[in-house]
Amino acid sequence: MGNLSEQEEKLLQAAKEARKKAYAPYSDFSVGAAILTSSGRIFSGCNVENSSYGLSCCAERVAIFSAVAAGDRDFVMLAVVSGISGYTYPCGACLQVLTEFAPKLTLLLINGKAEVLRTSVDALLPCTFQLKKQD
Ligand code: THU
Repeated sequence: MGNLSEQEEKLLQAAKEARKKAYAPYSDFSVGAAILTSSGRIFSGCNVENSSYGLSCCAERVAIFSAVAAGDRDFVMLAVVSGISGYTYPCGACLQVLTEFAPKLTLLLINGKAEVLRTSVDALLPCTFQLKKQD
């Protein structure tokens, strides 16, 4: 992963660490996410499932909400990692949540071959829900 900056490397490491804490007994699909804020802090999250399946929460939202709850919501970059061979893209719900705070946020995705893909929230979700009418 020589093509990663030191900061990106740190963020991916945090996402991988968070993934170890995933509570995913129903899907057996563990996800880790880590978000970097402009203050330099990293907030991480894992998916947390529930026997009432619909109550489960994605790793990304756990990380985002944790940062917001700490008062740190100027987001710089989000890293996502899972155990599959391909890339794990944030789901539509998490992308919508991200547009609230950082519509153009950089996403750092890593696949099972340790290859990295840089994309962005607006690239994956170009048309977001807006409560207020935009001109
Ligand atoms: N999941 C995430 O945590 N992030 C994603 O980007 C997609 C899906 C979780 C939700 C659920 O616990 C499991 O993965 C299978 O859908």
